[in-house]
Parts: sequence; C-alpha cells; structure tokens
Amino acid sequence: MSGPPGGPDREAGVLASLPPLRTGGRLGRLWDRVAGSDVDAAVIVEPANVRWLTGFTGSNGVVVVLGADEALLVTDARYEEQAPAQIGEAGCSGEIEVVVARDPAKAAAPRLGASARVGIEDRVAWGEQIRWSEAVTAETVPVSGIVERLRAVKDGAELARIEAAANIADGALASVVPMLRPGTTESHLQRALDGAIRSAGASGPAYDTIVASGPNAALPHAAPTGRRLESGDLVIIDVGALVDGYRSDMTRTFVLGDPSDRAAAMLEAVERSQAAGAAAVEPGVEAGRIDTACRSVLDGAGMGDAFVHGTGHGVGLDIHELPRVASGSAAALEPGNVLTVEPGVYFPGFGGVRIEDLLVVTDSGHRPLTLHPKTPLVPLPA
Ligand code: GLY
Ligand code: MN
Ligand code: MN
Repeated sequence: MSGPPGGPDREAGVLASLPPLRTGGRLGRLWDRVAGSDVDAAVIVEPANVRWLTGFTGSNGVVVVLGADEALLVTDARYEEQAPAQIGEAGCSGEIEVVVARDPAKAAAPRLGASARVGIEDRVAWGEQIRWSEAVTAETVPVSGIVERLRAVKDGAELARIEAAANIADGALASVVPMLRPGTTESHLQRALDGAIRSAGASGPAYDTIVASGPNAALPHAAPTGRRLESGDLVIIDVGALVDGYRSDMTRTFVLGDPSDRAAAMLEAVERSQAAGAAAVEPGVEAGRIDTACRSVLDGAGMGDAFVHGTGHGVGLDIHELPRVASGSAAALEPGNVLTVEPGVYFPGFGGVRIEDLLVVTDSGHRPLTLHPKTPLVPLPA
C-alpha cells in the first residue's frame, strides 16, 4: 500500500532497511530429513511452510518435494506471474519449478511415478488428502512437523524482520501509555495500538491485539470491549507487529494508580517468574526447563494454580510455532530459536497479570527483542 499523497511510504522504508530473504538451499535441508525417513517424496500444504521453502506468498500453493534440488510449486492461474517472480527473488528458481494447475494431486502424479510412499503434511484438509490418495499410485502417509522443525531456527534475514516487528510494537505500546487513564476504553486502546503499528510501517498487528482491564484481565485471551478503565485496574496489553510475514509478541501489565495489596503481589510474583524463565534461556537447555523455572516461582508465591497456560512458544511466520515451551518439552534450545516467555496468573472476577518477552537464543545465552519497560505503575493525576 502506498502512503498518503506526498507522504513517506513507511512500509516500503522498513522493507528497504532489511536484508533480503533467501530461501535457496532450504529444500536441500528438508530433503535430508525426507531421505532419512520412510517416505521418498513429500507434499507440503501448510501456507507458512510453502512460504518458508519458496518465498511464495499467494493463498494457494502446494510444494511437492522430489529431491534435494527438485520440487514443484503447484498453484493456480492467478499466481502464474507472481509465483516464478517470488521464487526468483528468493533465490530458488533453480530448484523449484512452478506448475499452474487446478488440481495439485493430478498435476504432480506423473512426477511421483517412481515413488513408493509419499508423505503428506498431516494438516492437509480431508478432501485434499482423498484427492491425493486417488491420484497417485504410491501409498500416501501423514508426515508431521518436518518443515516446522527447520523453521524453528531463524537466519539473519528472518531475525531482522522479527526484530523490526518487535521494535515497532515497542513504539506502539509507548505511544498509548499516556492514554492509560480512567475513562479510556479497551477498544480505543486497541485501535490506537493497531494504528500506531501500521503508521510505523508494519503490515499490521501480528494477531488480534489484546487489551483487557479490571475483571476482563482474568481472561488470558480476552477480546477488547467498550469497558472504560478505572482507577486501580490491572490492564493487560498483548501486542505484536507483522513485518514482511514475520511476527513479534509482547505483553505488559499496567496498574492505574496505586495497586491493591493483592494486585501488587500478583505483579511482583509474575515479574519474578518471567525473569526466572528468561534467565534459563540458553543453547542446550530443554524448553521444559524454562516452564519449570517460571512455574516454581509462582508455586512458591501460592499462585501456581492460577498459571493456566503454557509458558511460551516459538514465533516467526506463525505466531505460535516451534519450539513449544511447556511442561515436558524435551526440545533442546538452539541458537536462532525465537521464543516467548510469558507466565501469567488469572483470578476470575478480580483480574490478571501476564508479562511476555520475545527472546532470541544466541551462541552464549539469549537476547531480548521486546524492550518496552516492565514498570507496571501508571501514576494518576491527584
Ligand atoms: N499474543 C498471543 C500469545 O501470546 O500467545
Ligand atoms: Mn505469546
Ligand atoms: Mn502475546
């Protein structure tokens, strides 16, 4: 979208400042996994996986992986020009051939003639799966997470986009802090955040922005309402931006004026829990240990039962992706993982507190990408 007449196009400016995304070579890394498994071709249907492999952003595309440098991107006539152009820009036209066809299964079948077993991503729609099993002579079997596990480690260009998104969300949140006053509605704050995100050059919010005040803050994924903020409220704001397909994710909790003793205890416990979880983030650590670190602080504060969701998740092309940060997650963290640490406590009828940072795992530890201060207190005029 272009900016106002004569005004700067901020989105173009943000994109111009980022290193180009190159997807060439990812197919070879995926093929290593396919070749080491019990299938001899793979069908990738998940849009974020298709984008990650090819650079193609259209709404309809299926990748048929046939070798380390041989794949088809099957799409429809609407994308006849866009698909080869994006594949070329991403640096993988030598390995991915565009096929324009209505039915990917029928179009790919002749190329799968020698395959005995074809793995299809298990997120395929029921009808589509039936078309594949009818069109190909090979046995079709479900495969799970083969691209997602590769996506969990970000390269520099991906990280630059996530970091740009995090910076934009930091700025958007700072711009609405002066509006945290009795009388402001949750939905007004949501619109202000989303507007600030777009004005700063992001494509939009990374997910439905959450503003939840007073008793509404007891709902972990509340939708903003017309409720007006009141003095003493806890206010949870969960905000992220979308930059060139990549997302950020951050939550801060504010309190309007003097907190009650109960609200102050919740804020203090969640802040300590979040700091303990973040401190555990380093290469080689099992993701479940971060969950344990957060949970043990809240257990010690007598609030463990009020922490009703997982501790975090990877973020990238999707808002929720690998690695999973929850009880029992055995995945060892690797440099390049981007993940959230977001403990929270929720008391129905009273309110809630959540603090969420987005971190990148580095060679020696981690680096936070979301930098807005965690200070919860918003002083009110006397
Ligand atoms: N903002 C969505 C989440 O934190 O999971
Ligand atoms: Mn999150
Ligand atoms: Mn969030």
